[in-house]
This record gives sequence, C-alpha cells and structure tokens, in this order.
Amino acid sequence: IKENLALPVGTTLDRFIMRKQEDFPYATGELSQLLRDIALAAKIVNRAINHAGLTDIGGAYGKQNVQGEDQQRLDIVANIRFIRALRNGGEVCTIVSEEEDGLIQTGNHKGRYIVAIDPLDGSSNIDVNVSIGTIFSVYRRLSDQGADGTIEDCLQKGTEQVAAGYIIYGSSTMLVYTTGNGVNGFTYETSLGEFFLSHPNITIPAKGEIYSVNEGGFHHFPAGVKDYIELCRVRNYSARYIGSLVADFHRNLLKGGIYMYPNTQKSPLGKLRLLYECNALGFIVEQAGGKASDGKNRILDLQPNELHQRCPLYIGSKEMVEEVEALLMPRK
Ligand code: AHG
Ligand code: MN
Ligand code: MN
Ligand code: MN
Repeated sequence: IKENLALPVGTTLDRFIMRKQEDFPYATGELSQLLRDIALAAKIVNRAINHAGLTDIGGAYGKQNVQGEDQQRLDIVANIRFIRALRNGGEVCTIVSEEEDGLIQTGNHKGRYIVAIDPLDGSSNIDVNVSIGTIFSVYRRLSDQGADGTIEDCLQKGTEQVAAGYIIYGSSTMLVYTTGNGVNGFTYETSLGEFFLSHPNITIPAKGEIYSVNEGGFHHFPAGVKDYIELCRVRNYSARYIGSLVADFHRNLLKGGIYMYPNTQKSPLGKLRLLYECNALGFIVEQAGGKASDGKNRILDLQPNELHQRCPLYIGSKEMVEEVEALLMPRK
C-alpha cells in the first residue's frame, strides 16, 4: 500500500481516487466521494474567483467573522459553496469553518466524516489579483452515526486526520492532497473541467534558501526568530512573502523553504488557526518529508481545546524548521 502507484501523469483525479481506493480494501468509497465533493466545490469557487472583477463578488461583505476579520464577499461565497457540496455529497456530518462561529451540522447523520475548512485563505489578496486558496482537513467521526457530530469529533489531534489538502487559485488552479500515503498534485484544465495528475508524489527538499515571514513584525518576534531571520539574511536567502499561506506553503513545498508565523506580545498564539490551517498543512508537509512545529511541539500532536484556536507556525523543509526550533530553545 505504501508504494505510490506509478500512475501516468495526466491521470484524472477521478481515476486516481478510484485507483487509490483499490489500495484500501476496507474503504467503502465514502472518502473518495468526499474528495470528489471538494473538487466540485473547488471548480465552482475557481470560476467565481476568475470572474470576481466582473461580477460584484469582490470587496468586503460588511460583517466580521468570529476571528474579528472583515469578511470578504468571496469568503462568504466560498464558505457557502464548500458547505453545500459537502452537505449534498452526504459523507460529512459536521463541518468547522473559519467563517462560522460554531459547528455546522449538515443533517447527514449517517456521514462518517468531519471536515474543518478555511474556505478562502489569503482574503486580503482577493481584490488585488494575487493567488489565494482553500485549505481542508478530514477526520473520521468518533461519535456513533445516526445523529449530529459532536464537539469532541471536531477537536481531534492533527495525527488523527484521514485526509488533508488545499486548492491554490494561482496562475493555474491546483488541488494538492494526502490521505496518508504521500502527496499528489492535480492541475485543473478549465476547458475540460477536470483535474489532472501533474505533480505525483511531491516531496519537499530537506532544506531550501527561501524564507517566508511578515518582517513587518520583526521587532515583536521572539529572539530565536530574529536570530534565524538574521541567519537567512547573512546566507543571502530569498525573502518571499505572498500573504496567502497556501501560496507561500505551495512554493516552499516544491522548491524547499520555510514559512513562519511567530507569536508576538500582541498575539501570544500567533494568527494562524490550528484546525483548518496548521493541522492540514502539517499533515501534508510531513507526508512530503517536511516538518511543522509551533516552535517547540509537533503541530499534529497539539490537543485542540476550541474550534478557532491559534498557534504559532514554523513549517516547511525539515532542516530549516529544526534550526528555528533549536534557536527558540530557552538558552541554558
Ligand atoms: P485567511 O485569509 O484565511 O484569514 O488567512 C490569512 C493568513 C494567511 O493566509 C497569510 O499567510 C496570513 O494570514 C497573512 O497574515 P499577515 O497579513 O498578518 O502577514
Ligand atoms: Mn480570514
Ligand atoms: Mn487562512
Ligand atoms: Mn480564510
């Protein structure tokens, strides 16, 4: 099962999912169906994003979300599209979304899966035509079928994920995901409305020369992070910060690099959310041979206590994350 089927590049997502399903004799095809539902919503959101300038779904929605952020119209559109696709697909009983305060019950009481989702990542970039994304994380429910999912179903550690992925709406639209057997990337061909396998078995270089951090916060970062940034500068690394986590992560995944969102006095747990940003990308990066840490602990080992809790994030090439962790160790 471990070995990644040498499927020809150009395989469609559907065929890939079916082939992979054969690997899991016990699989009943529900997770496959869930992945198809996500791909469907991604196609619909992709179209909305591509037309945002022409239709009036750009700009602010005029409300704040539970994070205290001004919701963009596309945050809302993406949120509705993914919730609807997962509800109609029937496999998901409960959803956690960045854009909703509490649990979203789909009414699929037989559904075995929970999905945590960031419907639109990098919202500040929507109106300026910069790459944005969607991030999702999938768990098997702990509670019995036949009723709504519970809060315990949704507060599982990242190690319990059965799948995780992201869509990047960039110069091309890609779906990248893992079900625990490696990471595969699919590129969307709009004229056919299909995702095709374009990046089989993605692995992240053990180290890279790109660092991504919002250096505007430099003076408020922990000393170890400042030291690491100084090292990157001395080594003449490239500073690349897009402001969309998915885009910065995807570039580092392919080329090697590290993305950092440190804690500061003002935000002691940083900004990024554990359930639908850090855990999902943490699962993917580990499956690609990389590392994801909150500066001290493995992200996937963190026990969530609330749906929208934040954590500092250091993620990417293994050796680069380990170097920052070493610098963050309390000095003897
Ligand atoms: P979201 O748009 O889903 O709220 O996520 C935004 C995140 C992440 O995508 C990005 O890397 C980071 O916020 C940027 O934060 P700063 O503007 O503080 O650097
Ligand atoms: Mn947001
Ligand atoms: Mn986000
Ligand atoms: Mn978001």
